[in-house]
Amino acid sequence: MANQNLRHANKAKKDEFYTQLTDIEKELNHYKEQFSGKVVLCNCDDPRVSNFFYFFYARFHSLGLKRLIATCYKNLNPDLFSQNKDEQAVYCIYDGEDRVDNVIIDRDKFIKQNKWETLRGDGDFRTPECIELLKQSDIVVTNPPFSLFREFVDQLVKYDKKFLIIGNVNAITYKNCFQLIKENKMWMGCSIHSGDREFAVPDDYPLEAAGYRIDETGKKYIRIKGVRWFTNLDYKERHEDLVLCKKYNPEEYPKFDNYDAINIDKTANIPMDYEGIMGVPITFLDKFNPEQFEIIDGLNRYSILDVAGTNQWAIANHLHMTSVNGHSTYYRILIKNKKQ
Ligand SMILES: C[S@@+](CC[C@H](N)C(=O)[O-])C[C@H]1O[C@@H](n2cnc3c(N)ncnc32)[C@H](O)[C@@H]1O
Repeated sequence: MANQNLRHANKAKKDEFYTQLTDIEKELNHYKEQFSGKVVLCNCDDPRVSNFFYFFYARFHSLGLKRLIATCYKNLNPDLFSQNKDEQAVYCIYDGEDRVDNVIIDRDKFIKQNKWETLRGDGDFRTPECIELLKQSDIVVTNPPFSLFREFVDQLVKYDKKFLIIGNVNAITYKNCFQLIKENKMWMGCSIHSGDREFAVPDDYPLEAAGYRIDETGKKYIRIKGVRWFTNLDYKERHEDLVLCKKYNPEEYPKFDNYDAINIDKTANIPMDYEGIMGVPITFLDKFNPEQFEIIDGLNRYSILDVAGTNQWAIANHLHMTSVNGHSTYYRILIKNKKQ
């Protein structure tokens, strides 16, 4: 039992990494006018530490927000976080009463003002009191726990919310996320398309991975690969055509063994003149313009959505949908060029 609790504690601790203000700023710069008159909810965010909360708190008036709400989750099982027994899940509702616009926020001063109230439960985004706050909001902006990303997205869709959230690039292949992407109801944000990002972690974070750093004040950071913004807020760059330079030839672009589509290993190699279905890496979505391409389905061992064209015989015989000349590739998104 003790071991199991320790494992739970370590898993829960690994969800504790905090987004840097610069990453939030770089993305939010693309949507400024869409926040005017809106209620923003950061529902995985402790107002005492979250940079999401501080970002909107500092820019409340320049963005013209109507209200800012933050709620945070605290694991209330005393066995898991014995050293944190006193911590409680809190929420904060800010209506712009003190004008702190465009100043560097003094967090100690904010904390002394004690602007938050205690939640009745543990602050899980799925609890009734948190859902009540979600219903009152227009746009959800946060970095939810990766392990609950599917449920988090489902809840946003259920309550018909605008959102701008951080997730792992592999979430593209989750059935619910992929369906939204195909239907042009969710897409990748604007500012992160490659590489890794640095996140702050608590002092007792288990640092066993490579790529961590401790700054001069002793604060710990880890670098995480494959981070992306997921959103249904529009921005102009996603309507720009991807420039295509290559021409199709059957030798360079073989077909999948069990699906009538050509395989393309790099987005930059999409041919300008192919009319049929093309299988591209999931990072294609970083360049995806819905006016230029149509998304048909996604392939891995099986097809993600199982739309028309899937080879049922191959599935029944346990053959990989992405194999090319007997070798399976990684996930592929099936697309068609609308301008052909
Ligand atoms: C990746 S961290 C990001 C924290 C903060 N949003 C940020 O970006 O700095 C995910 C946060 O979600 C919280 N969390 C975990 N499970 C949750 C749940 N069921 N409901 C709400 N928040 C949860 C964790 O405590 C953690 O602080």
